[in-house]
Amino acid sequence: EVFEDSAQASALVAEEIAQLIRSRQEKGENCVLGLATGSSPIKVYEELVRMHREEGLSFANVVTFNLDEYYPMNRENHQSYYYFMHQHLFDHIDIKPENVHIPDGKVPLDEVHQYCIDYEMKIREFGGLDFQLLGIGRTGHVGFNEPGSHYNSGTRIITLDHLTRSDAASDFNGIDNVPKRAITMGIGTILKAGRIVLLGWGHKKADIVKETIEGAVTSNVPATYLQQHANTTFILDREAASEL
Ligand code: GLP
Repeated sequence: EVFEDSAQASALVAEEIAQLIRSRQEKGENCVLGLATGSSPIKVYEELVRMHREEGLSFANVVTFNLDEYYPMNRENHQSYYYFMHQHLFDHIDIKPENVHIPDGKVPLDEVHQYCIDYEMKIREFGGLDFQLLGIGRTGHVGFNEPGSHYNSGTRIITLDHLTRSDAASDFNGIDNVPKRAITMGIGTILKAGRIVLLGWGHKKADIVKETIEGAVTSNVPATYLQQHANTTFILDREAASEL
């Protein structure tokens, strides 16, 4: 779906999320959301915060799992996805702290493997992801599933591509400060979500959006695996859709 501007499109995505939350509330059920960081989802979070403040949208029944975190990374660090999520969403809504899950960038290296298995298990214990919000990186990554990621990959530690690190360089005051690794949910984790919405804004995303939607399904462009998911929508502005 192509929109004139990202604000209007983000409001629509926020509305879909709000409706899902409310419908689960009516049944007395949890709503399990997979959440993304980066600039793409910021306006969706802004709109959800507005709905909480102005329309009384409650997040008391919401459980969240974030896609990824840099490794190593302290929570307090302003570049951490932990910090980002609290700054843009969690600090402004009534979500229960125990319902928030973000991969921990400080797990000792020899415990990461087990930590990732446990993260995956926790998603399953809550009944799986009802809704997964995604952005897309220019390597074709979703979460931090860089080229080479297998379609049934689970949560794990991965090495970041040079392009990904160079795209993040401005946030870190230079590429040398960008962590070389990250913990990310897998492609398999993401594809198990009941509903997936990927956001893409701006010219910079036009080439990878074209490859993802029109190209062959390949681990070289992990986002192409979304073609095989039955309930995925790409929400794009005109610029991101310009090569389609
Ligand atoms: C990072 C995140 C991804 C995100 C991507 C694009 O790599 N790990 O989840 O989709 O950046 O970021 P942006 O939305 O800022 O373009």
